[in-house]
Amino acid sequence: MDNIKILGIETSCDETAASIVQDGKEILANIINSQIPIHQQFGGVVPEVASRKHIESIAFVVAEAFKEANLEYADIDAVAVTNRPGLIGALLVGLSFAKAFAYALDKPLIAVNHLYGHIYANFLEYEDIKFPAVCLVVSGGHTSLLLMEDATSYEVIGATLDDAAGEAFDKVARFMGLGYPGGPLVQKAAETGQAGLVTLPRVYLDRDDFNFSFSGLKTATMNLWKKLERQGSQNVNDMAAEFQTALVEVLVAKTIKAANKYQVDNILLAGGVAANSKLRDLMAEEARANKLKLYYPSLKLCTDNAAMIAGVAYHDFVNGRFAPLNLNAYPSQMSLLKRPVDIVDNSVDK
Ligand code: KG4
Ligand code: ZN
Repeated sequence: MDNIKILGIETSCDETAASIVQDGKEILANIINSQIPIHQQFGGVVPEVASRKHIESIAFVVAEAFKEANLEYADIDAVAVTNRPGLIGALLVGLSFAKAFAYALDKPLIAVNHLYGHIYANFLEYEDIKFPAVCLVVSGGHTSLLLMEDATSYEVIGATLDDAAGEAFDKVARFMGLGYPGGPLVQKAAETGQAGLVTLPRVYLDRDDFNFSFSGLKTATMNLWKKLERQGSQNVNDMAAEFQTALVEVLVAKTIKAANKYQVDNILLAGGVAANSKLRDLMAEEARANKLKLYYPSLKLCTDNAAMIAGVAYHDFVNGRFAPLNLNAYPSQMSLLKRPVDIVDNSVDK
């Protein structure tokens, strides 16, 4: 099927986003209205504020996407929307808007799992990814290692047993007074700091499996930070550098180990934490050393956006996987862990 234009809508957290993507590849418009400046004053995302801001801006963001793509509303073939996982109130804003829009235009509705969107961001930009491949998904609410059979099906081979990688970045940043959003601020502080001056554990590096634990690293960081305060020797940049290195080294080591074990040639990174420069650099270094090809989305497609939602939805469109107008939203992060992408039905809770 050619020239299929899908409108994607994404409101799962603190970005109101709309995009139009043709044939799962060509981005005709990609509008992101970030709420970061609003939540910054609270030190983190306030769910009710996020919902209210989404409802104020969603119609404008969608209109802007059509303007950028130079299209009329009736030119699209379907409306895709993130309906899981995320903040429930925030998801419901995008979902309600998408339903009304699809109904008014008499176009099909497609339900998208936000995490499949993050993975798919790689396929928006690269055409030469070979399978099987190993994909490290690292976002604010999710961390897992997948063995991918093709662009839309995979097996979960490891996951965090507690906090997600992004969550650890955010909590540690908040604790050290760096603010929100934590990941980019820790990365910035680390640039002028030095890892190794203080020492944090490489949690689970010695274990043979592909699971992670970031809650232990977070606690160790907080305890050391308090101890250094008592000693009057706190240095936020050195601490940020060591924390970032401790977390990234484990992500990289386990991903490379998985690639070698499953004898794949290609590695993919996905999710907001994949924007981290230390993770990108160290993974690239290790991939080169192990003769593996590494792919990660450009910065704009790594963090939350609707192009990844409209892109992945194309595959649902061609397979006739449409959602009913009584589609609901679900906050659960667990959905990615359960089954391969190609048999997931996003329209029901599981
Ligand atoms: O994928 P994402 O935008 O939203 C979710 O689906 O969760 O990920 C957001 C997470 C946040 O925890 C944020 O701190 C982290 O990604 N993040 C980063 C960087 N940019 C965003 N973490 C480390 N380094 C970064 N440069
Ligand atoms: Zn995300």
